[in-house]
Formats: sequence, structure tokens, C-alpha cells
Amino acid sequence: MATNRTFTMVKPDAVEANNTGSILGMITEAGFKIVAMKYTKLSAEQAGAFYEVHKERPFYGELVEFMSRGPIVAAILEKDNAVEDFRKLIGATNPAQAEDGTIRKRFAKSIGENAVHGSDSDENAAIEGNFFFSGLERF
Ligand code: CMP
Repeated sequence: MATNRTFTMVKPDAVEANNTGSILGMITEAGFKIVAMKYTKLSAEQAGAFYEVHKERPFYGELVEFMSRGPIVAAILEKDNAVEDFRKLIGATNPAQAEDGTIRKRFAKSIGENAVHGSDSDENAAIEGNFFFSGLERF
């Protein structure tokens, strides 16, 4: 059964382009409640650990470099059917395939620098949220 929380990051490309406010606006207007949020920067080691699941992929090195090159906004979001609805809101990984009205269609530059992260399952939403937030940081 679906739980009602997902995890997101506004990635370094979107923070650099000053799109953080617009992206958070789209998220809250779509009905997601922010239950945890922080502005932070990953070290290469931390980015490597977060994306451990992609370690064998050819783009892993590029991904780690990208995700550690500047600040990000990490957040836990709450809504009915959060994981699935949030993936609809952000659109396809490749912005060329993202539908109109999605965050990636509007803000992503490429398949690698794609503006925003969204968990792909309830299990990963919990793992990813726990990577960034303690129990005291959730409201
Ligand atoms: P996301 O789905 O949030 O998490 C995995 C990330 O890997 C993905 O976003 C992209 O940023 C990156 N990624 C996926 N596929 C590629 C690719 N083919 N080339 C470069 N980066 C990729």
C-alpha cells in the first residue's frame, strides 16, 4: 500500500539558475506539503553514497561530480499517493521526453542536469529522506 511521503532535491543546475523558488512554488501549488527541508551541499563522497545504486552505470562519475558541484535543496514532501504524483509533476528523466507543465520540461537542461530529483518508490523515499534528515527535522 502506498504511503504518503516522498523525497526530493532541487539539484545544483536549478539552484545555480535561481529556479529554487519557482520549483518549490510548483511543488506546493500541486498540493505537496513540505515536512522537512534544508539547503546544503553534498561532498563528492556523500553524492557517491546517495547514488550508490547507480555505481556501475557509465554516467556515475559525471553524476557524482554534478551533484557535488554546488548547493541543493533537499526536502521530504507529504501528499496522498506522494511518490507517483510527484514523479508525474517532475516529468521524465530526459527533459526532451517530459510532458508540458512538468518541472523538468520547464527547468531541466539535459538528462544529467535535470533540475530535480524524485524518489521512485516508497522504500527509496524512506531511505533517501533518512539520508538527509533526522527525526527532529521533520514536522
Ligand atoms: P534522477 O532520476 O533524479 O537520479 C539518477 C540520476 O542520474 C538522474 O536523475 C540523472 O541526473 C542522472 N542520469 C540518468 N541517466 C543519465 C544519463 N544517461 N547520463 C547522465 N546522467 C544520467
